[in-house]
Amino acid sequence: MTDKVLEIKGLNVSFDSTLGSKHAVKDVSFDIVRGETLAVIGESGSGKSVTSKAILQILGKTGHIDSGEIMLHLDGTKVDITTLKSDSIEMRRIRAERISLVSQEPMSALSPVHTVGDQIKETLFLCNQGLSEQDAHQQTIKLLSQVLLPDPEVLINKYPYALSGGQRQRVCIAMAIASRPDILIADEPTTALDVTTQAEILELFAKLQREINMSILFITHDLGVVAQISDRVVVMKDGEVVERGDVRQIFERPEHPYTIRLMDATRRLEMRSELKKPFELANADVKTPIIDARNVCKVFENGGGFFKKAKSWWRWTMFLWWYTRANHSVLWVSPAPVSPLWDVPFSVWVMPHQARFNTMIQVATWISIWSIWSAKPKTTCLSTCA
Ligand SMILES: Nc1ncnc2c1ncn2[C@@H]1O[C@H](COP(=O)(O)OP(=O)(O)OP(=O)(O)O)[C@@H](O)[C@H]1O
Ligand SMILES: [Mg+2]
Repeated sequence: MTDKVLEIKGLNVSFDSTLGSKHAVKDVSFDIVRGETLAVIGESGSGKSVTSKAILQILGKTGHIDSGEIMLHLDGTKVDITTLKSDSIEMRRIRAERISLVSQEPMSALSPVHTVGDQIKETLFLCNQGLSEQDAHQQTIKLLSQVLLPDPEVLINKYPYALSGGQRQRVCIAMAIASRPDILIADEPTTALDVTTQAEILELFAKLQREINMSILFITHDLGVVAQISDRVVVMKDGEVVERGDVRQIFERPEHPYTIRLMDATRRLEMRSELKKPFELANADVKTPIIDARNVCKVFENGGGFFKKAKSWWRWTMFLWWYTRANHSVLWVSPAPVSPLWDVPFSVWVMPHQARFNTMIQVATWISIWSIWSAKPKTTCLSTCA
């Protein structure tokens, strides 16, 4: 007996607009079996993403499910997702614990103002109430290493902008598997990535699937990827499912004219790439390059927030203030930005205990605040090319 985790029957989804209603998904039916990878393929606008959004009830204000069933099998019971409100506790719990989404654009899925670690921890807290901060930290480190990210201890404190596209996508995958979901919806998760990173991410999906026995609904345009990872395939066109079947059957004996055209186009593309001459041979007389890039250097600013920089200096200044007011002498060694001579690495300030020297401390305080404020953020040169 097949162990179905999700059954979609006769699903219809529409969007309202001032121009009228758009019927985006028409009478779509398919199911997903536990532990399998089901690929959904089809041309742009065929309704692949809308179907996945309907499963998660994230269609937005204008989208609605008109009819059909999305039956989720939960530990021996069934829940029809179409009967749940998008913002209901049950639906939130399903999104937090049962069905996760990895989208095409990781930057839009991640918050730019929270660290990678905080975002993963939030997911962990959502599906595991009562989890201590320390345990959440340990689990986050484990998740980051599970998705094969280097230096998880360092990465946990980074913001998404400081990561590469492939690394961000891995962070999204770590967030998606944090709850060990029954179903992972991957909506073109590798489209924006280079071939090597794409292969690594696909391997990662296969590894995680083996580890936690989750089902994957993999949406893609890439038939190479479909052949590599899927067990079964659903083909969509104009909002409808036009063909479905075992991956081998779809590739070797496609039946619907659209699937046949799709397979033929892929074969033609493969043949063209075999026949194509290398650029050098085809353009042997081309000597002058169109673009000549040398010593290109991309600089990322690191830090720079006033309060962050000022924190320790402010503490020291307050300490000095208090110390001199308590009639003690102090020796204050300050770094260059506070030094009266800007080209020496540090300066030494001797603060006698007399009250009149408090004025001096006040001046020093304001100089240090000003210099911290105006100090340029540290910069790091991350990449150069000759
Ligand atoms: N928020 C929306 N409002 C109105 N129409 C929408 C909305 N989202 C999607 N659609 C329409 O629904 C149809 C299906 O869109 P969908 O995003 O599912 O396509 P897709 O198959 O995922 O395409 P792609 O491969 O380009 O991502 C399209 O015609 C699209 O214009
Ligand atoms: Mg899409």
